[in-house]
Amino acid sequence: MRVALLTGGGDCPGLNAVIYAAVRKGIQTYGDEFIGFLNGWRGVLDNQFIPLTLENIDGIQLKGGTILHSSRTNVKKIPGGIEKVQEVLKTNKIDALIALGGDDTQSVTLYLAENGINAVGVPKTIDNDISGTDQTFGFDTAVMIATEAIDRLHTTADSHNRVIVCEVMGRDAGWIAYASGIAGGAHVVLVPEQEIDIDHVCALLKYNYDHGKHYGIVVVAEGCHLPEVGQVVGSKEVDSFGHARLSGIGEALSSLIEKKTGFETRSVNLGHTQRGGVPTAYDRLLGQRYGLHAIDMVHEKKWGRIAVLKGLDVTDITIKEAIAQNRRLDQRFFNVIKDLEAKV
Ligand code: F6P
Repeated sequence: MRVALLTGGGDCPGLNAVIYAAVRKGIQTYGDEFIGFLNGWRGVLDNQFIPLTLENIDGIQLKGGTILHSSRTNVKKIPGGIEKVQEVLKTNKIDALIALGGDDTQSVTLYLAENGINAVGVPKTIDNDISGTDQTFGFDTAVMIATEAIDRLHTTADSHNRVIVCEVMGRDAGWIAYASGIAGGAHVVLVPEQEIDIDHVCALLKYNYDHGKHYGIVVVAEGCHLPEVGQVVGSKEVDSFGHARLSGIGEALSSLIEKKTGFETRSVNLGHTQRGGVPTAYDRLLGQRYGLHAIDMVHEKKWGRIAVLKGLDVTDITIKEAIAQNRRLDQRFFNVIKDLEAKV
């Protein structure tokens, strides 16, 4: 078969691992040929691609980012977009498409699959918010990066008797904040699934100062709602899928804490560092397992389906099911946060 791959949406450590494994198995086991469209769906619309061979994928599974580059392009919103995609796939004699992306990219994959295009998906996002999969690749790396940063904030906050608020990514889901906050020993962990109770946050920090620890670490997810303010955005612009650019709650919360407690407070926004650099061993392995499953899905003609991790197995579900709603933290995870907090 002649198979095309693309990577859409925000990049994510482990994308290259998926590409590597799908291409390697496709060529060696099935005798497939591959191309990679550049810049996500944009490259399909513009007919921009590179060949993917055993030679040019050699060693990429170790590397971060995506050799295919990425963009946030919503084909559904572009007049004639679907027809253009159909035409480009036909011109290039593409038998099947593997789209690596989060819920936005997969909404396009589903749309194309429903319109007669042979397409399957692989769930990519550091946010870990895709339904039906136990974990998306990239999440483990983001949590490792955030945890290491929080470890470092402890020593500087301690030296200066300060509170430091660390803002992490995750959009409307608190997975990164929950995992890195708990792993990094934060005194306060704030996730978007729960209302921020500012008095409780201040009480937790005061507890530290009253009990011989003259500093505090707060981890806050970028998508949390600040009382009376709501979500904090870095810019008024929204992307082609209608998402606001969330950024700045760490700084806003830091000012509020300082005002209410009198403790000197600083904020750090980890931003895109969480998506950069090499993937962890876990993400390299998970990415390659997703890639192997994706090329098998192609040969089994499982159009409109997406690879998922269920327990120890990589299997697949419909894309419709995967993107029906975001996977968010629930009571089980709130309990972990609560049980590890100071009793105030
Ligand atoms: O979806 C992944 C993600 O990193 C979110 O956590 C974050 O809100 C967003 O992408 C940032 O997007 P951009 O790279 O377009 O600023």
